[in-house]
Amino acid sequence: MKALVYHGPGKKAWEDVPEPEITVDTDAIVRVEATTICGTDLHILKGDVPEVTDGRILGHEAVGTVTQVGSGVKNLKVGDRVLVSCITACGACRFCREGRYGQCLGGGGWILGHNIDGTQAEYVRVPFADTSTYPVPAGVTDEQVLMVADILPTGYEVGVLNGHVAPGDVVTVVGAGPIGLSAIMGARLYSPSHIIAIDLAASRLEAAKRFGADIVVNPTHENALEVVLALTDGLGADVSIEAVGTPATFELAVSLARAAGHIANIGVHGEPATLHLETLWTKDVTITTGLVDTSSTPTFLKLLAGHQLDASAFATHHFELDEFDRAYDVFSRAAETGALKVVLQRA
Ligand SMILES: NC(=O)c1ccc[n+]([C@@H]2O[C@H](COP(=O)([O-])OP(=O)(O)OC[C@H]3O[C@@H](n4cnc5c(N)ncnc54)[C@H](O)[C@@H]3O)[C@@H](O)[C@H]2O)c1
Ligand SMILES: [Zn+2]
Ligand SMILES: [Zn+2]
Repeated sequence: MKALVYHGPGKKAWEDVPEPEITVDTDAIVRVEATTICGTDLHILKGDVPEVTDGRILGHEAVGTVTQVGSGVKNLKVGDRVLVSCITACGACRFCREGRYGQCLGGGGWILGHNIDGTQAEYVRVPFADTSTYPVPAGVTDEQVLMVADILPTGYEVGVLNGHVAPGDVVTVVGAGPIGLSAIMGARLYSPSHIIAIDLAASRLEAAKRFGADIVVNPTHENALEVVLALTDGLGADVSIEAVGTPATFELAVSLARAAGHIANIGVHGEPATLHLETLWTKDVTITTGLVDTSSTPTFLKLLAGHQLDASAFATHHFELDEFDRAYDVFSRAAETGALKVVLQRA
């Protein structure tokens, strides 16, 4: 089969590799119908994720059809249409029993396209198939379901739920990439009074408006803190969500929260950020961090099936499955191309 193989920093190729086989009886093999690229894949290609070694097939998001199941798989059969989630869950360890699949101790967690071969391929082996895949609901397009593999649960669980967004809240979202936009979409489920999106890229702020931000701020022209204070009688945001992953944006997100507010960090950080306890110690704030668990996946599949949510606006660019070079190029120049998620599908 063909797959997108990582060959060290800056190097990848769509090339011939052996088809995956069942190696443990709880595995399934899934024929990939649709997959996408994540910002994390770009980090891997820069060499920021050293566990990913030469020869690894990239990708951790897919929708596809089951073609083989191991003898220990109970809930899936050949021909089933499934969502392959970015998080694999053994289903039995202490953290899986709490729904914290991201922290799985039994061999799951974020492993696809990381510690084992991933979904940017014609076929993928999915470990713990019963607890790591979800049936695709009838009447929902593959590309909408694909947005549930990673971004929608991430913005919702690590941003909205950890941040305790409540009706009437003022919510700030620093960073309006696919993750920040997912946080905006998820926050709207709780009827906040105002969502303020902050980003440097005009194309991303336009997207934020389409996804439901009430106010957008570009910090190159405007002071985000002043905008938030003016809207909140000088108090600050009830919930401040960080969806970039730099020291400056983390510190901005913290500064935007009111006393007793919530600051929910989603961004992946590569260097230390300063926690300003000299001002925070009296503020009663709650700061949370998190890796997505994907425990909200069933919720999103129900929202899509019930047409309460439309995720199709994420899919800005479409390619055939063998067009990874073009797809990576468009996705990596997102501020220019306006790309949110690129969808690669079998012809
Ligand atoms: N915690 C998790 O489980 C988890 C899961 C997936 C992704 N992530 C992380 O979430 C973050 C966002 O992901 P994404 O795919 O949306 O990334 P992205 O790069 O597409 O979006 C980031 C946005 O931040 C904006 N930005 C950059 N610097 C800024 C600044 N100084 N002020 C305001 N905006 C700024 C960029 O213009 C861009 O629109 C990344 O760090 C990613 O690795 C975390
Ligand atoms: Zn991802
Ligand atoms: Zn587990």
